[in-house]
Amino acid sequence: MDNTSQILQRSAELFAGQRLLLVNPPADELARELPADWHVWSWDYAAYLGLRNRLDEQRLDFSHLCPTLDGLDGAVLVMPKAIERAEYALAQIAPLLKTGCPLYLVGEKKGGITRAEKLLAPYGGTPEKLDSARHCQLWRTVVHGQAAPFRLADWQQGITLEFPDQQVELVSLPGVFSHGRLDEGSQLLLEELAPLPTGKVLDFGCGAGVLATVLARRNPTSRFELVDVDALALHCAAETLGRNQVQAEVYPSDGLSDVHGRYAAVVSNPPFHTGIRHDTSVAEQFFNEVTRNLLPRGELRIVANGFLKYPPLIEAHIGQCQVLRENSRFKVYSAVVPG
Ligand SMILES: C[S@@+](CC[C@H](N)C(=O)[O-])C[C@H]1O[C@@H](n2cnc3c(N)ncnc32)[C@H](O)[C@@H]1O
Repeated sequence: MDNTSQILQRSAELFAGQRLLLVNPPADELARELPADWHVWSWDYAAYLGLRNRLDEQRLDFSHLCPTLDGLDGAVLVMPKAIERAEYALAQIAPLLKTGCPLYLVGEKKGGITRAEKLLAPYGGTPEKLDSARHCQLWRTVVHGQAAPFRLADWQQGITLEFPDQQVELVSLPGVFSHGRLDEGSQLLLEELAPLPTGKVLDFGCGAGVLATVLARRNPTSRFELVDVDALALHCAAETLGRNQVQAEVYPSDGLSDVHGRYAAVVSNPPFHTGIRHDTSVAEQFFNEVTRNLLPRGELRIVANGFLKYPPLIEAHIGQCQVLRENSRFKVYSAVVPG
């Protein structure tokens, strides 16, 4: 079991017999083993898929929004990797809790749980640290008064991006990659104007949807699909497409788990760190698996930090890897499946 789940398990008596909301848990046995009436909210599709095998689906929500539940006795938030995502979640959880209900925050020290006091303070009395073990801490505040209702619009950030050929309205939410700005790597990929092969195009790890939006306008006869593991990213991507009058399909996938078609092109600024540790495993698995989703002569076009040793991996799985563009930090790679 994950360290955060273990520390919650040590405090099992706090939760016994209660109707509780559990937010952002890892995909482990916690909710099954602790004897409470749990309802789980996750924005992480990988965790959602793992929990779906362990929990009744009616007790599980995958969404950018917290389910509206009545009669809760308390709530537990597992600290997300981005602090602003914790603020976003707490602003939705707190209005569901009546005065006197406990609101818990649990997480790893290196994952920002040391900010718990500050994060919980707006919602109740002085937060208290209940336990500390396995590099994790468990904090609690007791809710005072009714928290202000949550309004998504207050958290959604809209920015206008200028490209030489178009203007894009980008919608973003806390913790979505490159929140409120354009990533330098994504910008470099979009500076490449070589047309993509025509047909279906997949934007893998779409974030707020900037790549697909710009490229769909440049390749108007192609049909775009966007996938991401993060429910907030998927919501933002759908909003971004809508505001820019681009039609495309947006759906969740953990890696290529839910991608079944074959594509003329796959574009991506692939994720290279998951959680707190730097990790290229998602990208490596992606290169390995994406071959089955590319048509003959299909193109994989990605941008990555120059220090990541992707070309040998791309060549091992797809085909000859060409550098289309580079600057001091990023490289845009293209590989075409032999026809
Ligand atoms: C580097 S960001 C790129 C975002 C966007 N394409 C852009 O250019 O701004 C990588 C994206 O991959 C997503 N991601 C991380 N792990 C994933 C996984 N296992 N499956 C699908 N998407 C994932 C992240 O949520 C993030 O939005």
